[in-house]
Amino acid sequence: MEIAIIGSGYVGLVTGACFADVGHSVVCVDNDQKKVDGLQSGHIPIYEPGLEEVVYRNVSAHRLRFTNSTADGVDHSQIVFIAVPTPPQPDGSVDLTYIEKVAREIAEVLKEYRVIVDKSTVPVKTGEKVAETIRRYNKARVEFDVVSNPEFLREGCAVADLMNPDRIVIGSNSDRALALMKKVYEPFMAPIMVTDINSAELIKHAANSFLALKISYINAISAICEASDADVERVADGIGADKRIGRSFLNAGLGYGGSCFPKDVAAFIAISEQLRVPFTLLQEVERINGAQLERFLKKIRDTLWVLKDKRIAVWGLTFKPDTDDVRNSVAISLINNLLQEGAVVQVYDPKGMEKSAELKMCVGATLAKSAIAATENAEALVLATEWDEFKNVDFVQVRKSMHTPIIFDGRNLFDPSTMTELGFRYFGIGRSGVR
Ligand code: UDX
Repeated sequence: MEIAIIGSGYVGLVTGACFADVGHSVVCVDNDQKKVDGLQSGHIPIYEPGLEEVVYRNVSAHRLRFTNSTADGVDHSQIVFIAVPTPPQPDGSVDLTYIEKVAREIAEVLKEYRVIVDKSTVPVKTGEKVAETIRRYNKARVEFDVVSNPEFLREGCAVADLMNPDRIVIGSNSDRALALMKKVYEPFMAPIMVTDINSAELIKHAANSFLALKISYINAISAICEASDADVERVADGIGADKRIGRSFLNAGLGYGGSCFPKDVAAFIAISEQLRVPFTLLQEVERINGAQLERFLKKIRDTLWVLKDKRIAVWGLTFKPDTDDVRNSVAISLINNLLQEGAVVQVYDPKGMEKSAELKMCVGATLAKSAIAATENAEALVLATEWDEFKNVDFVQVRKSMHTPIIFDGRNLFDPSTMTELGFRYFGIGRSGVR
């Protein structure tokens, strides 16, 4: 199939590269010429395991190319995917400026039938608006169909998620469009779920909000565990063993962050309000998420007392492991809180240091060269992101390097008894009952 992807950001790039990898001919469009040139010569602007190889392989095989021209993309494809950003507005609702602009651009260059696919995360009924816009701006009155095909990619394993999806959701009201969409996804051999367009759009917000709710649920339980001397890890195992519940996304910690969950939960609240059926449960999900960092900071204050001039090592900057993405990272909020209270913060992250420095996200913190270097003379070590690298650090050396051996584990990465045996005072999340 010949496919165009408009928007070569995170979703567009991974989708385009993987479509090319299964044999489709893909052109990725982006209005940033510098980015287009970089991508064409193999420079990947984000860290995503496996992505560079896939892009390189398919550019070399001439199955994948990049352009800044929407006309070029639309002319040379049967299907046009829209994968542009849908950022939040200050009130939580979704800014659809880029979607509307791309719809107009497509309309202006549309000469024959195309399927226009919304891949970006959009509020329910956006498909209708996209179709309306294309109809209005396409002077040639060409036939087209709009389809919704939400993505469910996790940063850090987006290539694997795209290649082996749990399900593919296609929202379409046209058999012609559906037949073409099925051809796109045939090589992936995954279950395809066909729905109407509105339901497909809703599935995306409902799925992400449900996952966020699961995280807030276990985080609320972690507070109860701390108040009752129980261990949240055992509770999560106990409830997660029930197949109806499942163990994944029941990891208590500092709360969810990143470019999706906070934005999508806020958007779903705004959408429900606009539809006059307020989804107030999600407000509680947000509240619990924010409270998790507050409770953790209180634990640090209760233990270290005054934070001013205390030297604190922080491991982790990214919003989760295996990515260099520091947007909406709870680790960054934590560091800024410590800095605000006058602490001397020494940070290390395997992949997030460059982006956080570039974006000036925690000005005042010292970026250390290694995990051990960050702990030098520190009065406490805070684990904010659960990178595998941190599991394999030599804790005998960490203990020697630190001024006082205290660990605040914000992601329950370490085994409390091992840490205690190594001579550390250990504080996790919801683990006060651990002996
Ligand atoms: C998410 C969805 O998983 C994905 O399907 C969607 O398309 C985009 O949004 P992503 O934001 O990349 O993906 O990360 P994810 O792995 O879902 O984690 C989100 C946040 O939740 C992270 O901050 C993570 O640390 C936190 N989290 C996750 C928990 O605190 N506990 C958990 O059990 C799982």
